[in-house]
Amino acid sequence: MRYSTTLAGGVLALGLLSALPAQGADPTFTKDVAPILFENCTTCHRADEVGPFALVTYEDARKRAKQIAKITEKKIMPPWKPSEGHDTFKNARNLTAKQIATIKAWAEAGAPEGDAKDLPKMPDYPKGWHLGKPDLVIQIAKPFTIPAEGPDIYVHFVLPLDFKEDKYIKAVQVLPSNRKVAHHAVPMLDGSGTARALAKKHGGDHYPNFGGPGFIPRGFLPGYAPGQMTRFDPDIEAGITLAKGSDIVLQMHYHPIGKEQTDQPQIGIYFSKDKPKRNPNLILLGNNDIYIPAGEKEFKRTDSFKLGCDFKIETAWAHMHTIGKKTKVWAELPDGTTKNLLQIDDWDFNWQDTYTYKKPIILPKGTVVKSEFFWDNSADNPRNPFNPPKLIKWGEGSTDEMSGVILGGVTVSGWDEIGMWLAVIGHYFEVEGIANEAKKKREKEGKK
Ligand code: HEC
Repeated sequence: MRYSTTLAGGVLALGLLSALPAQGADPTFTKDVAPILFENCTTCHRADEVGPFALVTYEDARKRAKQIAKITEKKIMPPWKPSEGHDTFKNARNLTAKQIATIKAWAEAGAPEGDAKDLPKMPDYPKGWHLGKPDLVIQIAKPFTIPAEGPDIYVHFVLPLDFKEDKYIKAVQVLPSNRKVAHHAVPMLDGSGTARALAKKHGGDHYPNFGGPGFIPRGFLPGYAPGQMTRFDPDIEAGITLAKGSDIVLQMHYHPIGKEQTDQPQIGIYFSKDKPKRNPNLILLGNNDIYIPAGEKEFKRTDSFKLGCDFKIETAWAHMHTIGKKTKVWAELPDGTTKNLLQIDDWDFNWQDTYTYKKPIILPKGTVVKSEFFWDNSADNPRNPFNPPKLIKWGEGSTDEMSGVILGGVTVSGWDEIGMWLAVIGHYFEVEGIANEAKKKREKEGKK
């Protein structure tokens, strides 16, 4: 074993050496900083993208060297909400401690440019459809106007499909026409006609709604977020069925940029001939008993769900509104061990994502999945929509609050699919029931 320990020692020493900055040499833009920016920032910070300025050239970066150093040290950028230690997700946007230190040292050294020959090539960013021409392209009827100023806009476009039979989906890409204002997109399926009715009420093909779509979606399709690639994901077993009669409802989140803009997003769909082998299932957690007195700094709610069968989790998504502060989701296994599933310590409504696990997590029957949510309704919370603070209750409006977690995946055995659905629906009514009881009790006490 002597040979291998020496080898390991050598590799370790090499690793340590390369982690230390060369003695005396300050980092330069071309050699040290540009590779970090090109890998982690230019997906959003380049022309016509959602970042408020480009970080492509030396001049772009030099002008903002100190700001970049500060914002990366504080981990505000790149935007990535799951906490450290939860490095279990695909496409995580995190800088290493070494990268953060390099940017800081570069800014402190006066942001030197360095030798032009060291500059790496900018990555190629694919334009248009990532997987070639889709089988079906649908587009919202008219360009949508985003005003120059004002709060972020959440709008739902209704796209009726009128398919007479079920269709199976292999991949979906949402393509905004204006990526400067398009923050993210979430396409959902509605089979109830509710979204159509809501759009009609607003006199057209779309309706505003802040917190949610106003109906319980029959399913979700892959959406748009800056820098996200469309893939045929072989790790995800469950295919998406577009049941006949479903409409696609496209939720768009727009961020005004100081100049009036328009956007006319398209959705490209790639169909599969084969019926999916498995249907997606999910675990739904939430607590609707939300009644947060003005000034309350740490209002907490929890929920839990016991698995009646083995379940494989592939994705995680959490939801609160603007005064949400933090959330955590974890699993307590029958053998007494605990597994963290998602933790967000600095909730930001504007950076929500569906996180995909690098490796799906299998939870055995009997596991209890738990969640907790915290809100800060004090005047110290800069994201509080009211000043002075006011009582905030559950609701879908922009100044109401919600809580929710969806863990997407498949039951390990196909036989458990339906049982799991029924258990989840049962749990949903339980959550509603708890909120209704609490509301009745408050009304009895004379509280509104
Ligand atoms: C996923 C898209 C995205 C990525 C990746 C990203 N940014 Fe940003 N950045 C934004 C957006 C959007 C804003 C505008 C503020 C907001 O909406 O949070 C912003 C704002 C900023 C600001 C201004 C912040 C302020 O307080 O005004 C700086 C500086 C910045 N980003 C630097 C970076 C750096 C450096 C990286 C890479 C290490 C990076 N960003 C990666 C999207 C991104």
